[in-house]
Amino acid sequence: MHIRVYGAQADELAAYQKAESKYGFTFEFAKAPLSEETVDEVHDCDGIILVTTCHVTGKVAQTLAQRGVKYLATRSAGSDHVDYDAVIKYGLHCANVPFYAPEAIAEHTILMALLVLRHGKKSFEMVRSGDFTMTGLKGRQLGQLTAGVLGTGRIGRTTMTLLNGFGTRVLGWDPYPNAAAEKLGTYVSKEELLKESDIIFLHCPLTSDSYHLICEETLAQMKPGAVLVNTARGGLVDHAAVLKALESGKLSGFAFDVYENESEFVRRKLPVDQISDPVFKELLRRENTAYSAHVAFYTDGAINNMIEVTLDNLKEYEMTGQCRNEIKVEGGTV
Ligand code: NAI
Repeated sequence: MHIRVYGAQADELAAYQKAESKYGFTFEFAKAPLSEETVDEVHDCDGIILVTTCHVTGKVAQTLAQRGVKYLATRSAGSDHVDYDAVIKYGLHCANVPFYAPEAIAEHTILMALLVLRHGKKSFEMVRSGDFTMTGLKGRQLGQLTAGVLGTGRIGRTTMTLLNGFGTRVLGWDPYPNAAAEKLGTYVSKEELLKESDIIFLHCPLTSDSYHLICEETLAQMKPGAVLVNTARGGLVDHAAVLKALESGKLSGFAFDVYENESEFVRRKLPVDQISDPVFKELLRRENTAYSAHVAFYTDGAINNMIEVTLDNLKEYEMTGQCRNEIKVEGGTV
């Protein structure tokens, strides 16, 4: 199988080289993410490896199918960047990596939470400018708070486990509660979770149901001074509403690894003043926010797993025409 690879980093090329003999694949590497603007660059390949900055729209899926592509394999757990209906319509197949290292994402989630609770951004800035006082740095202890976890799947449960280690009181909400999460916290209604939590963690997939789950209405239900942490998907959050809530003090902090329109800047070098989104720029500027550029998953262990499962997915398609990790629902574990 000849495979076009999107989003490969320089330090991953050796893994693909090894895979040539192990899997019998040949590879070509694309620079820009797959989108309606770049799909014309695709010629003569059977499979495509995607990353989350790619956008497989209806037009992209149609062009890929016309050019003989059969199999798509996204290196991610989330697949909201792939139009699931279009994949079916044009006879393509798409698999994901349902889990590669929930611990990597959960650990990063806690890091982001602590950065906001302990005023990390302000503290580092003060030291850099020669201010070694404690002014404005009094923080809050995670272990003394009530945390609400929206989405109690693999990553949500791992975050709950870590929170238990801190001694945090943990609440959960999920449209499909599970027994494993019941042992790690208390399921309550979504309304109760919003009302009771000092800090809210988003760990659910982005689907048509969860789009802008955090909006003016749900923010209004939250505790005054609550903290929001989103390491799942940007589209879960109405960022303009979050900015307003930060300005009014309704939210005391916002930590995020993902942003709704992140494809404009993520994985690129771009001076902040050239970014077109004023809400994002203001969120970056504020002292009580912490942003990382969609790197929660990015650890050595996770990347190795991710590449291996993606290649296994494509091999399974090649051998059987099917794959156990084929995406079966919109957004997924998407
Ligand atoms: P999972 O499928 O194991 O768990 C997701 C849970 O969310 C399920 O229990 C599901 O019932 C629940 N859910 C579905 N709709 C919901 C809603 N509207 N409100 C609340 N809960 C809902 O998925 P996993 O592995 O825990 O991943 C969760 C999400 O994390 C992924 O969909 C992906 O978008 C994101 N992610 C982010 C990464 C990053 O680097 N920042 C890396 C990997 C995943």
